[in-house]
Amino acid sequence: ENLFHFAKYATLADGFLLPKDVTTAEYIDSLEDFEIRDSDVFVATFPKSGTVWSQNILSLIYHEGHRDGTENINVIDRVPWLEYNINNMDYVNRPSPRLFVTHLPHNLVPRDLRNRRGKVIYVARNPKDVVVSYFHYSRLAAKLETISDFNILLERFLAGKVVSGSWLDHIGGWFTHRDDFNILFLTFEEMKKDLRGAVLKICKFLGKQLTENELDTVVEMASFDNMKWDARANYENMPESFLEQGKGHFLRKGTIGDWKNTMTVAQSERFDSVFKEKMKELPFKFIWDI
Ligand code: A3P
Repeated sequence: ENLFHFAKYATLADGFLLPKDVTTAEYIDSLEDFEIRDSDVFVATFPKSGTVWSQNILSLIYHEGHRDGTENINVIDRVPWLEYNINNMDYVNRPSPRLFVTHLPHNLVPRDLRNRRGKVIYVARNPKDVVVSYFHYSRLAAKLETISDFNILLERFLAGKVVSGSWLDHIGGWFTHRDDFNILFLTFEEMKKDLRGAVLKICKFLGKQLTENELDTVVEMASFDNMKWDARANYENMPESFLEQGKGHFLRKGTIGDWKNTMTVAQSERFDSVFKEKMKELPFKFIWDI
């Protein structure tokens, strides 16, 4: 495996890597002018930080029907990807409130979002768990480069040569520009430790009042165990051209500190030498293990 040779990715002008047969640089450019409504809600994440989990929470909060199991709309259709319109939806004419998910950095999202129209929920996860989750995911995600040697992925991750670029720049960018956005920051770890508290924070931010019963249902349906079996929420309905389901599950472990099972001490130290100092500038309280 060649450290920085990519067969499946295209690079945008600012070094941002994206899977090239899922979207195009032109489409990403065009998003700059995408008109935002005040009622739009975006989940923004670096890949493997709890995106699908947050997508499902949004879907549960907004769509009563999704909770009672009587209909079968996939989370991906409830809360589609801004930059990967894989089901060719009409985003412009979609009824409000429009819910979206994105892995884009703050500087590539629609201009209107930066003018405090629409809401953004940014979910961050401790980056050692992110890189390990990415490593396992790269085996089943057909649009990602499969990387069999963790060392190679680690070097790519530290150099910002994975999809969505540098983790530090992604989170740092969104955080530094937080005043430009109507934004709520959450961590995977706080969701894991207190899912109900996190759902309440999201509801408050969105101005949604749920009854105790509704809240209970959202929290229950968003638990790892329930999502693991909920085909609408666990990406098992994704076509094989995206996810090679036989190779593993999108909902893999969903824990804090699993990086220890993949990273060696030397790799962890290498990670720290590049990231730990810089991470001190971020106010996030990541939990590294439990
Ligand atoms: P692991 O690979 O560590 O298990 P993303 O959606 O951003 O790609 O992130 C995927 C990660 O979120 C995976 O982590 C997945 O298991 C985890 N995840 C998804 N739903 C979850 C849930 N309800 N509770 C805990 N973790 C969840």
